[in-house]
Amino acid sequence: MTHFTKHIGAAAIALAVSGPGFVGVAQAQQEVKLGYALAVESHYGVAAEKWEEVVEAEAGDRFTFRHFPSSGLGGEREVIEGLQLGTVEATIVSSGTLSNFVPETGVFDIPFLFRDLAHARTVLDGPIGQDILAKFDDAGLVALAWGEQGFRHITNNRNAIAGPADVAGLKLRTMENPIHITAFETLGAAPTPMAWPEVIGALQQGTIDGQENPLSVITSANLSEVQKYLTVSGHVYSPAMLLVSQQLWDGMSAEDQELFRKAASEAAVAMRGFVDNVETSGVAQLREAGMEVGELSTEQKAAFQEALGSAYEQYYGTYDKELVDQIIATE
Ligand code: PAF
Repeated sequence: MTHFTKHIGAAAIALAVSGPGFVGVAQAQQEVKLGYALAVESHYGVAAEKWEEVVEAEAGDRFTFRHFPSSGLGGEREVIEGLQLGTVEATIVSSGTLSNFVPETGVFDIPFLFRDLAHARTVLDGPIGQDILAKFDDAGLVALAWGEQGFRHITNNRNAIAGPADVAGLKLRTMENPIHITAFETLGAAPTPMAWPEVIGALQQGTIDGQENPLSVITSANLSEVQKYLTVSGHVYSPAMLLVSQQLWDGMSAEDQELFRKAASEAAVAMRGFVDNVETSGVAQLREAGMEVGELSTEQKAAFQEALGSAYEQYYGTYDKELVDQIIATE
């Protein structure tokens, strides 16, 4: 059944059961299953709440959001595939598996590409970022806005990290992201791509030594309970994305599409606000929780960048060097 016929069918039933006092046309309700990997108290949860709140403020109960936090609908790849199949309506995800759906997205996963959060936000909200959102149409997905996680840092149980030599042989969980995997291979680590729902168990069992994620994730997922060392490496920016299924989109009026776009943008702003807070308070919080924290100096970061030389050559085989230079030059 198409969404159009589903809407009409539901409206007809509502009309039939509404009784003699009924005036006007009954509105069908659309369920929006919204899946995301982290807890309700995380930056994802904050964005999900805002998304619903803004839609509800204008659309009333025409859309019923059902939240599935903490990977309640599976790993991020599975959820995106659910959107393509039309079994899930909405998601908020990292860039972990996005380049498997829209390869151009991977350009933002290049290590040490962005100077700071403001730089990343300017690029994502500008023509380069918006062009990439539009490319999701060809993958049967509707990308509404760029959200954010922050800069990624390394946590592990083996040793403190001050330079590339310290990650040699480190069994480090990465996202299923070819750009990140290449980076850690080049540094001599043993990257282990893994879907997020398996990570905490693998850290507890010691099948991996560590993982890398922004402070927003390290704090909200309580990684201090299973990880000893935190290296504030900021080795790569971690964007997030708010997506809906093509099916949901095609079943909506132009006004509702606009409303969903506006709500997703407001959700992204809320998410960035959460990240701003945790970027200033997160390290102290994790120290308090017992983690041994080291922050890479500018020189130490430069040493990592230098060690990544051959990885950059590989990236330029995939991503236009001119585009990368344009991103770097964005003020
Ligand atoms: O590391 C990841 O896979 C992602 O950053 C996470 C934690 C699932 C949030 O999107």
